[in-house]
Amino acid sequence: MVPQTQRPVGVIGVGYVGLVTAVCIAHLGHRVVCLDVDEAKIEKLRAGLVPIYEPGLDELMAGARERLSFTTSYDELCERSRVLFIAVDTPPSPSGDADLSRVERVVSDVSARGGERLLVMKSTVPVGTGERVLAELESAGATAIGYVSNPEFLREGAAVDDVLHPDRIVIGAYRERDGDEIQQLFAGIETTVVRTSVPTAEMIKYASNAFLATKISFINEIANVCEVVGADVRAVADGMGLDERIGPHFLRAGIGYGGSCFPKDVQALKQLAGNSGYHFQLLNAVIEVNHLQKRRVVGKLQERLGRLRGKHVALLGLTFKPHTDDLREAASIVLAARLRAEGARVSAYDPMVAPGARADLFPGVAIATSALAALEGADAAVLVTEWPELVALDWTVVRDVMRGACVIDGRNALDAALLAAAGLSCDGIGTVAPVAIGDSVTSDEAR
Ligand SMILES: NC(=O)c1ccc[n+]([C@@H]2O[C@H](COP(=O)([O-])OP(=O)(O)OC[C@H]3O[C@@H](n4cnc5c(N)ncnc54)[C@H](O)[C@@H]3O)[C@@H](O)[C@H]2O)c1
Repeated sequence: MVPQTQRPVGVIGVGYVGLVTAVCIAHLGHRVVCLDVDEAKIEKLRAGLVPIYEPGLDELMAGARERLSFTTSYDELCERSRVLFIAVDTPPSPSGDADLSRVERVVSDVSARGGERLLVMKSTVPVGTGERVLAELESAGATAIGYVSNPEFLREGAAVDDVLHPDRIVIGAYRERDGDEIQQLFAGIETTVVRTSVPTAEMIKYASNAFLATKISFINEIANVCEVVGADVRAVADGMGLDERIGPHFLRAGIGYGGSCFPKDVQALKQLAGNSGYHFQLLNAVIEVNHLQKRRVVGKLQERLGRLRGKHVALLGLTFKPHTDDLREAASIVLAARLRAEGARVSAYDPMVAPGARADLFPGVAIATSALAALEGADAAVLVTEWPELVALDWTVVRDVMRGACVIDGRNALDAALLAAAGLSCDGIGTVAPVAIGDSVTSDEAR
């Protein structure tokens, strides 16, 4: 535990990254003041409620409660804290560049309050942002404010563990002592600390996400070839992953990557390169493969059911991955819209999405209170998000409630033999499926 005489650390923007960062820093023994412009969020947090779903966060927050405080006032934050983490969102702008308007707002709100401070950038920002912030601070006369880049690599759904047990901590600083201070703050975490320049730290984040997205698009293309040549991508990935130079991670074929990070960060890196005069050809392919992958599921349904007009398709899972309530850039949004455009009737179930909620994202989709309710009378089902409760469905019961027998496993997470035994066909992505017992729906018959 650290001495409580030190000034509290400030965290600006308490979304998925900011809140987990704040709670973990408090867990390490520091006092933390959290600021957000969203008053309802701050009210909830003051009442001890966690406004997002992230496994383990409630318990950790409860345990560090007395070291955490919440405010919407920059005056209060700047009065109490000197080290300020910035964790506001940096969504894509219409041009594909990262929209830094929220970051700019924070810099101007902090610099207006003067004082000697240290800004620590957790948000994912393009290379050059540190330089830009320093220039803004200088023109505002706030030269006593330092800047450190400390990109975040957490995964939603495993965020607490990722922050407390990271693969590495990256610290890019202009002044040695600023980097030392942030390294000291995380002294309770055992990991490799990468000390580097600000632009290099900014690039490490983008390059990491772009590489992971590339792995996903690569294995998805291998899966698509597997389908043509009769190989099974799961065994291919296992065989590849045993090679230490390749490694087993991020080699699961499926309906493509989504979420609030990969799509926007890959796009932003492509733009960043383009704006600097370099055509990042590989990333164009990564992005295109990902777009097409979501649409392949519709093609698979058409192969099985023929025209989709009037057909009932149930989507199992809507969030961009399991163990989160985040729907940003989820594959389900594109899939639902495409199915509706084909004239299909679409129902859905997700443990984190209530019926009637998010009609903005899923117009015309009937969101049910249970998987079986969504599957009732369906001609086909698509596993979109591999929530454990969906993977573990009783497929015999599913077969009874569905009208058809077609299941598309968009995440290669289902046991195809179990489904076949229940009389359901199970089409994975790049997999060789066993023949369903009593499966009367074939592509030819359906046409
Ligand atoms: N979500 C992830 O898995 C993840 C992982 C690594 C990095 N990142 C990066 O971290 C950043 C934050 O992502 P997130 O998913 O936590 O976003 P989020 O949308 O969940 O949270 C952002 C928060 O910032 C608040 N905010 C916006 N403007 C503000 C301002 N001027 N002052 C104070 N608060 C303000 C919002 O109200 C919101 O609560 C992004 O740059 C993202 O790319 C995200």
